Amino acid sequence: MAVLRSCLSLQLACASLTLTIASGASWAQKADLEFGRYLATECMTCHRSATAGGAIPNIFGMAEPRFIVLIKAYRDKQLPNPVMQSVASRLRDDEIDALAHFFAATKKQ
Ligand code: HEC
Repeated sequence: MAVLRSCLSLQLACASLTLTIASGASWAQKADLEFGRYLATECMTCHRSATAGGAIPNIFGMAEPRFIVLIKAYRDKQLPNPVMQSVASRLRDDEIDALAHFFAATKKQ
């Protein structure tokens, strides 16, 4: 009986833990998006005016993994563009994640 009771309370603890994690994740995603929007102000000047075949590539709707790889490549100076190198050199990993999330979720206005 004692075993059964501890099993039950363990299950309850697990259930509430899962709930906490689930609601935490959606909150974090929303915060991520807002943080990304805030950080993206700086990028808009250039990237909002992207045209097909122009010097500035369109980054709206880009898949997050590709976006992250590209920005980190500029940050590590593996990609040569000096403007993007300097922009990327100021970004922390969590800021890159937030930007990736924002641009993947946003269409060009
Ligand atoms: C002063 C203008 C300017 C600003 C500001 C700027 N970019 Fe760029 N970005 C460029 C140009 C030009 C390129 C193309 C560089 C190249 O040919 O390697 C580029 C390339 C990129 C690429 C690679 C796209 C691809 O398809 O290869 C990404 C991703 C990117 N920028 C993200 C950002 C983010 C995020 C910000 C803001 C934090 C930002 N850029 C700010 C001008 C800018």
